[in-house]
Amino acid sequence: MHVVTSKQELAEHIAEWRHNDEHVALVPTMGSLHAGHLALVELAREHAERVVVSIFVNPTQFAEGEDFENYPRSLERDKLRLKTTGTDLIFAPEATTVYPFGIENATIVSVPGLTENFCGASRPGHFDGVTTVVARLFALAQPDVAVFGQKDYQQQLVIRRMVEDMNLPVSIITSETIREDDGLAMSSRNAYLDEEQRTIAPMLYAELSAVGNELQNGRRDFAELESAAQQRLMDAGFVVEYFAIRRALNLEVPDRDCDDLVVLVAAKLGDARLIDNIVVTV
Ligand code: PAJ
Repeated sequence: MHVVTSKQELAEHIAEWRHNDEHVALVPTMGSLHAGHLALVELAREHAERVVVSIFVNPTQFAEGEDFENYPRSLERDKLRLKTTGTDLIFAPEATTVYPFGIENATIVSVPGLTENFCGASRPGHFDGVTTVVARLFALAQPDVAVFGQKDYQQQLVIRRMVEDMNLPVSIITSETIREDDGLAMSSRNAYLDEEQRTIAPMLYAELSAVGNELQNGRRDFAELESAAQQRLMDAGFVVEYFAIRRALNLEVPDRDCDDLVVLVAAKLGDARLIDNIVVTV
């Protein structure tokens, strides 16, 4: 497994693989890797002979006052974790490599519409930062395939739209959410939970599942289901940003006949902002 930081070194490896007719899969991450990330790498391996994992805590996707400075960074541990996964190369660039003209002068890639609500509303500029960095990572690594987690449901939709709209020559694959035994979606930000909050946090997935069951059973009073779940989460101590039932395809408000739904939640528990979702096909 190679670890490179410069775009020249990355390009050399990619060129060699291309020369051998090997396909390249990219798994973009911000590091602090857990089993959720490793599952993306495993899936990437099924789709390409070569797997590149990028590790870059991208400053442009953190809104003012968010946790960019405190975001957990653990490159040495990440390297150890990836060693046994069949990762061919870790690309861990400096900000100056990703943003050669500086962040202030960076070309922005921005997807309208899909980014307006949910995490886009509560984290101004967040998705512009995500699409801006992912477009750059695609340009640097030139992958055939890139893998993203369903955990960040809106993010993978936004990236799919960017790729389709710009005709980028990369296939996007979405990998299922990996959870702790009690249902809590794995996340680097779970580290912000104290002991008591950690016992409450699995309720997010429990509520998603309960609403999912109601939908499977034919309930279609979406607003009622949303507000009841929101209230139960608030009673348990969450500050709820959104709990919403939407069309899985595009996050629009569904009508009663829609059979492809996603239930999305974002809520704060102390310092930890947690997100999760489930797809419900009825
Ligand atoms: P990060 O939060 O590090 O996540 C990297 C990838 O891992 C994302 O595609 C995310 O959806 C996926 N992931 C995180 N937790 C997961 C889980 N429990 N199960 C399955 N997949 C999971 O998302 C980002 O970084 C950044 O926005 C990035 C795309 C790298 C751009 O900077």
